[in-house]
Amino acid sequence: MDKRTPQLGDIQETLLIPLYGRAVETRKRRGMLNDPRAVEMVDALDYDFSRFDGAKSLLGASLRTLIFDQWVSDFMERHPSGTVVELGTGLNTRFERLDNGTVHWFDLDLPDVIDLRRSFFEDTGRRRMIAASVTDPGWPDEVRKSPGPYFLAAEAVLLYLEEELVRSVFQLVGERLPGAHLALETASARMIDSQDSHDVLAGMAARMHWRCDDPKAVEHWQPGLRLTDSRTLAQLPAPVARRLPVPFRVLLRAMTTLRRRDIEAYRFNLFRFADE
Ligand SMILES: C[S@@+](CC[C@H](N)C(=O)[O-])C[C@H]1O[C@@H](n2cnc3c(N)ncnc32)[C@H](O)[C@@H]1O
Repeated sequence: MDKRTPQLGDIQETLLIPLYGRAVETRKRRGMLNDPRAVEMVDALDYDFSRFDGAKSLLGASLRTLIFDQWVSDFMERHPSGTVVELGTGLNTRFERLDNGTVHWFDLDLPDVIDLRRSFFEDTGRRRMIAASVTDPGWPDEVRKSPGPYFLAAEAVLLYLEEELVRSVFQLVGERLPGAHLALETASARMIDSQDSHDVLAGMAARMHWRCDDPKAVEHWQPGLRLTDSRTLAQLPAPVARRLPVPFRVLLRAMTTLRRRDIEAYRFNLFRFADE
């Protein structure tokens, strides 16, 4: 079969990093996750993924995915027919990993990404793609056609926006999807300022912009907004930590001791918006 060359903008191209991270883990005998669709997509794309080989941040990307998976699973356990929205979905396969047969799902990304995504995924009755920017005021109206409550997962997305745009996304969600949960990461100013030496991003054109030293401070952006969870790679949710093969646990323990400041700089956060 002919391989497809991804035609993607600079920020969009970053989707290939977590995709490759999941494929690499899947190909290992004892990887931290199993994602055969990621392997299929990597094999079907004409792209030099070897440029990412050996980068530690591939492991970080897969650990991050497991944290987000855990939050989405917890939500689906409480609300089996609620709606999950992947904001900046890339070639994410969370639905494939977690579908419970009743959840509703949207995968939103910029038009060039959705075009690529459509060569691997199809819309179904419970799962649909939206070609839009997360800052576009129209997408919550699509989502509202699906039953609540709503869980929005913005994995490795909002960091690429200027703070003003991140604030506009919070405002949009607060107004149009009250009561929603929103999962996202924050990166400290120090981490953003040192990204030119990041093991993968250094070689790519995309740059992160949103500096956030304290995710708790985001609560002040709007009344009733609450930070319900915030953790680092050193504080994996118990079910994630239990599933990790021993070599990962050892590596993680070493990294959290040796590179404490770096680990603290990058946080995984869960927000809950005020109810109507
Ligand atoms: C690092 S990738 C993460 C992809 C996916 N969330 C994952 O974890 O596999 C960043 C993604 O954010 C998307 N993105 C960046 N800016 C966006 C915007 N304004 N609106 C929607 N998606 C955006 C990119 O197109 C890309 O797919």
